Amino acid sequence: MSHENRCFLESHGSGIPVVFLHGYPLNRSMWNDQVPAIATSFRPILIDLPGFGSAARANKSDTPSLAKIADEVFEALQSARITEPIVLVGLSMGGYIALEFWKRHASSLRGLVLADTKASPDTPEAAEARYKTAKTALEEGTEKAVNPMMAKLISAQSQKSEKITTWLQKTMHSVSPETIEMALYAMAGRSDFTNELSSINVPTLVIAGREDAIIPVEVMKKMADAIPGASFKVVEGSGHMPSNEQPDAFNQLLLDFLQTV
Ligand code: MLT
Repeated sequence: MSHENRCFLESHGSGIPVVFLHGYPLNRSMWNDQVPAIATSFRPILIDLPGFGSAARANKSDTPSLAKIADEVFEALQSARITEPIVLVGLSMGGYIALEFWKRHASSLRGLVLADTKASPDTPEAAEARYKTAKTALEEGTEKAVNPMMAKLISAQSQKSEKITTWLQKTMHSVSPETIEMALYAMAGRSDFTNELSSINVPTLVIAGREDAIIPVEVMKKMADAIPGASFKVVEGSGHMPSNEQPDAFNQLLLDFLQTV
């Protein structure tokens, strides 16, 4: 395991730790709508993954790996003396990392929330597209690389919300090309968890945005069905980012789940 931890932690409230892992190419600010709702009874902990937000930049010599990032999340929690079992909430890339965390640190988990994410790895074509995007980021800058994602991340309705689109743009554009490259290579090389879902033995909630254009609802339903005892909930009126697009509905699902773990 690495001894140079690059995660940034922000903790609120007290009680059972609920740790939030953001999607790509975002940062912990994506969970700002969750904090007030959760912090009244639990301890939300927002994490900036390596290179994102206030976290230390990705080290060029590191081989990009979501498993390594999951270890860094674990170590960052240990360093912050958060040693009791946590509920881990991950959206999209954060969900891929949450699955790695489960595989490597299952005894540290009391619950898992997988939002708008999947267990399957990239197809060779998808991986190839990521390498191309990484090249674009390095050669032409972050904006050119991330702008095409904008239309896919949120629903057509949410595109009309200036609050969401302004925040999304600002957040995505603030990521360095090197971090874009690191995250894309790490996602392209991620493990296949499809056959491991049946071994997940912590309470699990799977949340899907009805209009997710990146990961179809049916894919997430299938993932939930493969996890013993998992509940599956769909957030109406949302694309890939229900925690931002429909925060009240998302928070209610999360709170209902948290009461049971
Ligand atoms: C994310 O939202 O984290 C990304 O869309 C995930 C991905 O590109 O696979």
